[in-house]
Amino acid sequence: MEQQLPVSSARRKAPNIMVTGTPGVGKSRLCHQISEMTGLQWLEISKIAKEFSCLEDEFDEVYQCPVLDEDKLLDGLEETMCVGGNIVDYHSCEFFPERWFDVVFVLRTDNTLLYDRLVSRGYTGKKLEDNMDCEIFQTVLEEAKSSYKEEIVHELHNNNPEQLEFNAHNICLWIQEWFDHQSPQTQGDNPVQAETGSQMATEPQTA
Ligand SMILES: Nc1ncnc2c1ncn2[C@@H]1O[C@H](COP(=O)(O)OP(=O)(O)OP(=O)(O)O)[C@@H](O)[C@H]1O
Ligand SMILES: [Mg+2]
Repeated sequence: MEQQLPVSSARRKAPNIMVTGTPGVGKSRLCHQISEMTGLQWLEISKIAKEFSCLEDEFDEVYQCPVLDEDKLLDGLEETMCVGGNIVDYHSCEFFPERWFDVVFVLRTDNTLLYDRLVSRGYTGKKLEDNMDCEIFQTVLEEAKSSYKEEIVHELHNNNPEQLEFNAHNICLWIQEWFDHQSPQTQGDNPVQAETGSQMATEPQTA
């Protein structure tokens, strides 16, 4: 996860991070943990869209959720994103402006585990099938790769609690490195409270 800072990130006080992936891969759980560890703001787009009335009457057939009024949502978030220090959590990433993000993490979960997670949430029939197809055909990963520079897109396996810890730790390291690359003035804003150590961890033992 070597860092290439986009020019626009120089103006931000802290990095903006995108965490995306098929519903059920564990975005919210990971984002909550990173937010607790770093103090960065977790923006759970599906909740924010409701709060700011950015949902339309139409229904998204694939994700079985109301269609987003994307323009309204993006307008509402612009200022927050310009300031920086946000972790954006959503199952799609292509409609956000590329300039908003310093890094994009795409969470992946093995099919059988994801199937069990979605069934235990009560997903059935077409909704379950469509979400499974989305993961099998790595739709969100391809979307991320075609919407952002490939070097800032990272695929993370998130099958079990060990991998969750490993991913949270590595993202905290990435955030720490972002601050290390900034001017001394911005480094003073570093909210990372976690013990991140000095080196990126290697793959966790458990698959
Ligand atoms: N690494 C993990 N190991 C085991 N279970 C996990 C892991 N990550 C998440 N889960 C479980 O999987 C389920 C889905 O997680 P979560 O709600 O975070 O997914 P999500 O990607 O945010 O879904 P959505 O897009 O619908 O909001 C939850 O029950 C959560 O506890
Ligand atoms: Mg979620």
